[in-house]
Amino acid sequence: MRSQVLSLAATALTFSSLVLGQTSTDCDPLTNTTCPSDTALGKTITVDFTSGESSEFTVDTGTTITYGDDGAEFIITSDGDARTIVSNNYIFFGKVEVVLKAANGTGIVSSFVMESDDLDEIDWEWLGGNATVVETNYFGKGNTTTYNRATYPTVNDPQDIWHTYTIDWTSEYIKWYVDGSLVRTLLYSDALDGKNFPQTPMKIKIGNWVGGAADESTGTVEWAGGYTDLTEAPFTMYVKNLTIEDYTTSGTTYTYGDETGDYTSIIISNSTSNSTTSSGTSSSSGTTYAVNSTVGTSSSDNSTTSSTSSSTSSSSSSTVSSVSGASIPGDDMATTLLAAVGFGFALFL
Ligand SMILES: *[C@@H]1O[C@H](CO)[C@@H](O)[C@H](O)[C@H]1NC(C)=O
Ligand SMILES: *[C@@H]1O[C@H](CO)[C@@H](O)[C@H](O)[C@H]1NC(C)=O
Ligand SMILES: *[C@@H]1O[C@H](CO)[C@@H](O)[C@H](O)[C@H]1NC(C)=O
Ligand SMILES: *[C@@H]1O[C@H](CO)[C@@H](O)[C@H](O)[C@H]1NC(C)=O
Ligand SMILES: *[C@@H]1O[C@H](CO)[C@@H](O)[C@H](O)[C@H]1NC(C)=O
Ligand SMILES: *[C@@H]1O[C@H](CO)[C@@H](O)[C@H](O)[C@H]1NC(C)=O
Ligand SMILES: *[C@@H]1O[C@H](CO)[C@@H](O)[C@H](O)[C@H]1NC(C)=O
Ligand SMILES: *[C@@H]1O[C@H](CO)[C@@H](O)[C@H](O)[C@H]1NC(C)=O
Ligand SMILES: *[C@@H]1O[C@H](CO)[C@@H](O)[C@H](O)[C@H]1NC(C)=O
Repeated sequence: MRSQVLSLAATALTFSSLVLGQTSTDCDPLTNTTCPSDTALGKTITVDFTSGESSEFTVDTGTTITYGDDGAEFIITSDGDARTIVSNNYIFFGKVEVVLKAANGTGIVSSFVMESDDLDEIDWEWLGGNATVVETNYFGKGNTTTYNRATYPTVNDPQDIWHTYTIDWTSEYIKWYVDGSLVRTLLYSDALDGKNFPQTPMKIKIGNWVGGAADESTGTVEWAGGYTDLTEAPFTMYVKNLTIEDYTTSGTTYTYGDETGDYTSIIISNSTSNSTTSSGTSSSSGTTYAVNSTVGTSSSDNSTTSSTSSSTSSSSSSTVSSVSGASIPGDDMATTLLAAVGFGFALFL
């Protein structure tokens, strides 16, 4: 595992000079047809970190999170620190709302990221040296050829004041809200006619890391706002609570049906909806394809246009929950390097 860690880190190092994100995944369904299925959340959950850790999240190996009256505490005290938690289940379109305070400290990056196995990504990020804005960003299929996607809506002191950050993600748009006010809308067609539009099942990764570490590339340090003065540590991100709503409520797993990365190719297992147009052999697994579906088009539309299929491609799997959020010290999974987040994460080795 160690060598894999190093080679992934080296890869990320290359990309980190580009400042913006490059991710890696433990199994990219666009190049590997035997990736395990994603476990579906399939419902709405509320996580209240003021009452302690949540079974909905896995704390990254090598990471320690503490909990208090302000919720989950992602504390940075040294250069090599990265604090990351990753949701165990995936959502296939949905709404995610988090109440948090970003970490202070120049070069410190607080992040809230939704990311899929084929590297679609939707982000919030806060720079510790900037107490007036939050960054919104997105990536489609790991495409990092351009770096003009971020926006910086103003927020009143995100480090000292609790704010509610919401992402509403459908097959037609992504909307970012701060305290209920819409700060950005990305339409499917805005993102390279959909090609770069995030549209595959996502996990949620929350983290705090040192973008301004001494050994970071100058590009990353610059983006992060400068070198971090660790004598001013600790730098703490507080996550009070969050609500995660999966707009697809009918399945137990999500599986890539082909290598397009299109949302229409995602197979929702155990979907309860049935097509009236299909006479396909009905299988005991009840696997259902989302064919040109309207899945997740809006929260009021939970339906799937689907056809029953005898495909057995959705071998149910719970192993996806072992996907780790970031390559950090001691993280022997070393599988996922966060994007926007990630340009820094991998470099702590
Ligand atoms: C494809 O994914 C499977 C399951 O994760 C893995 O065992 C296999 O090594 C992968 N194949 C390639 C070529 O990466
Ligand atoms: C914070 O970021 C915004 C957007 O990039 C920028 O306009 C502003 O000058 C920054 N403030 C500080 C203190 O760096
Ligand atoms: C990646 O995004 C760029 C910029 O939007 C675009 O020109 C390019 O075609 C995309 N590449 C792929 C493989 O989609
Ligand atoms: C940074 O935030 C911490 C809480 O995380 C606080 O104790 C400290 O005073 C803050 N430092 C500055 C310079 O604002
Ligand atoms: C999250 O915390 C905020 C601020 O304390 C509170 O108003 C809200 O009710 C909480 N939400 C949940 C779902 O616990
Ligand atoms: C789906 O179709 C199968 C076979 O026709 C039927 O047994 C099942 O009840 C249907 N499920 C729903 C939710 O309509
Ligand atoms: C479904 O989508 C495929 C390719 O995206 C297209 O060729 C086909 O015509 C569509 N079918 C319907 C019924 O819209
Ligand atoms: C869709 O799901 C949302 C949340 O799970 C629920 O509030 C809504 O009533 C559902 N809509 C339909 C048409 O089932
Ligand atoms: C479908 O649901 C059943 C019962 O909940 C479960 O045992 C089975 O593993 C599920 N199938 C898949 C493919 O997830």
